[in-house]
Amino acid sequence: MARHIHRAAVFHLLDDPSHDPDAARYIPDGVLVVEDGHVAEAGAWSAIGPRLGDTPVTRHRDALIVPGFVDAHVHYPQLDVIASPAAHLLDWLNTHTFPSEIRFADRAVADEAAAFFLTELLRHGTTTALVYPTVHKGSAEALFAAAQARNMRLATGKVLMDRNAPDGLRDTADEGSSDSAALIAKWHGKGRLTYAVTPRFAATSTDRQLELAGALLREHPGVLLHTHLSENHEEIALVRSLFPDCADYLGVYEKFGLATDRSVFAHGLHLSDSEWTRMGANGSAIAFCPTSNLFLGSGLFDIATAHKHGVTVGLATDVGGGTSLSLLQTMNEAFKVGQLRRRMLDPFTLFYLATLGGAKALKMDAHIGNFAAGKEADFLVLDLAATPLLARRIAAARTPGEILFALAMLGDDRAVKATYVAGALAHSRV
Ligand code: GUN
Ligand code: ZN
Repeated sequence: MARHIHRAAVFHLLDDPSHDPDAARYIPDGVLVVEDGHVAEAGAWSAIGPRLGDTPVTRHRDALIVPGFVDAHVHYPQLDVIASPAAHLLDWLNTHTFPSEIRFADRAVADEAAAFFLTELLRHGTTTALVYPTVHKGSAEALFAAAQARNMRLATGKVLMDRNAPDGLRDTADEGSSDSAALIAKWHGKGRLTYAVTPRFAATSTDRQLELAGALLREHPGVLLHTHLSENHEEIALVRSLFPDCADYLGVYEKFGLATDRSVFAHGLHLSDSEWTRMGANGSAIAFCPTSNLFLGSGLFDIATAHKHGVTVGLATDVGGGTSLSLLQTMNEAFKVGQLRRRMLDPFTLFYLATLGGAKALKMDAHIGNFAAGKEADFLVLDLAATPLLARRIAAARTPGEILFALAMLGDDRAVKATYVAGALAHSRV
């Protein structure tokens, strides 16, 4: 048995702090014990240290160990269009995004981008993500292969889009379905990989394509459904015009059996009361993408209403619409969205959204999201002195909440000193 012991301050959450005020665990002098890539135990050094025998201890000074971050929605082929301004979503898609994604027909382009993307995720402290590739089957293969090589817990699936997109970026309903089925057979459940059936959004799929996506979900009960929902007013109007028999945007996904308890919808910014009620009843999750929602001027996510309806929420970067791969930066902007919604998000909730909340949204909370014994040991060593200002602010902090809040407001990739995947060092800041 391979055992590794990490000593530092330790923080994780046992549950959603908005349900359970005692869910947060902050241990100033803590220890994380890892055995064969899994958490053996996490707790106070004073309680656990004395019975650990002579296994060497890795001591991380001025550091906080937290679970690896989960990015609940991100597009790996959009790294070349991050930071491209546009008036609004549909403009941004047509001007910047679609032309760039066409290049992923070339497997070599996809392989290079997938490797770069995963290296960047780990450098930013993200150990798990639910990821869009492009419409090209090879783009999903490239990411699965790269994630497998790094032993990362990751979900993706070939994008389905058979209309309202340029040449080179459309499949057909039948080809999209058979390619997805082949990818499920090859990758789903292999090691730490999960397949997500991924219609881009209702506007780029025909009825037939959405019907076949629903059939895939029924035939493969373990896979996820990943798509966009209610991001932008022009988009919503377009979807309503394309599906006149559906009462609203969510109704399109419901009609085709795509709104399930394994569905993850990015955004959900402009949902009606009826849609929110049905989101809760369907058990679907939302990926909250604050940097993207602000950058594209899409709207302000209403987390209070999500909570009211029991909708699971994960935090997400939505790069390239989003402006940072850092979940710390994303917490910063989530907090500001909350302020504009008159809902002040506490630091425990911010970290919850980026760890266990995301894990729950992706149906991976049995494996990751906190340091419960037996979970996979994906964790970060955050540097409490990453910048002079962060060090100064944290020196003045009086409570764990203040330390976490300073990290969320002032932290970014510079604060990620080391990233461990299943107990093994996967990134170390130089
Ligand atoms: N809706 C459909 N495609 C996209 C995309 O690539 N990014 C975002 N933010 N929204 C979308
Ligand atoms: Zn997106």
